[in-house]
Amino acid sequence: MPAPNSPIGVFDSGVGGLTVLKELRRALPGRRMIYLGDTARLPYGAKSPETIRRYALQAGKLLVGRGAGRLVVACNTASAHGLGPLREAFPSVPVHGVIEPGAAAAVAASQSGRIAVIATEATVRAGAYETAIRALLPGAEIQSLACPIFVALAEEGWGETEIAEAAARRYLSPLLQGDRPDVVILGCTHFPALKAAIARVLGPGVRLVDSAEAVALSLAAGADVGGAAGSVSFLATDNVERFARVAGHFLPEPIAPGEVELVELG
Ligand code: DGL
Repeated sequence: MPAPNSPIGVFDSGVGGLTVLKELRRALPGRRMIYLGDTARLPYGAKSPETIRRYALQAGKLLVGRGAGRLVVACNTASAHGLGPLREAFPSVPVHGVIEPGAAAAVAASQSGRIAVIATEATVRAGAYETAIRALLPGAEIQSLACPIFVALAEEGWGETEIAEAAARRYLSPLLQGDRPDVVILGCTHFPALKAAIARVLGPGVRLVDSAEAVALSLAAGADVGGAAGSVSFLATDNVERFARVAGHFLPEPIAPGEVELVELG
């Protein structure tokens, strides 16, 4: 069993998982956390399942080596392909993904059972949301769309620009035709950075679900809450200055480049 109040290790390919970290800190303010952004190898969404699995295992190994007693895979792509291998590799460490909580939140929010998932190519290809949604709502009508450029826009800090809105209009047009979904899952942890643009394109009848809050709440229910003030250590595999700058768009407070440690995965 993990040591009590051991840090929670959180990882993503880049800054997108900070949307999950933010919610985790809100739900578990006393826990120490280590956040790893694999910025050297982003984007994961365009990689093969084998490569994504290998990256996820390397990230898990680094975080467990740093004392993490619990892992949160704050990346849908790595959750879709790496969750099973991570659980196998680290049997004494609870490993949480973002897909099942996101699917559960979407099913709870949908009135019509028409649910759309927007995600990376690798997440869409894996069909993990379809499986998780159908396990809860077998008759659900599910549409899945890959929106890979959203990741680059979020990493650039351009989530709230007219370029983001133009990209959203282009990618999301299939969701504006025929029987429209009433819930759209932001199935990539980078996508909340474009939430306002996506909401404007989809219009008021559509509820956007992001799994960050659902994951944080499920952890808060099961984990020890920790001490008085939890701290966060930030790690990145490349370009710590850029990571620190863009992270400012995702977190309530800025991070200085000196607070981000450069690490190598292998
Ligand atoms: N943030 C990641 C996700 O949730 C993936 C972004 C990427 O590296 O393609 O899927």
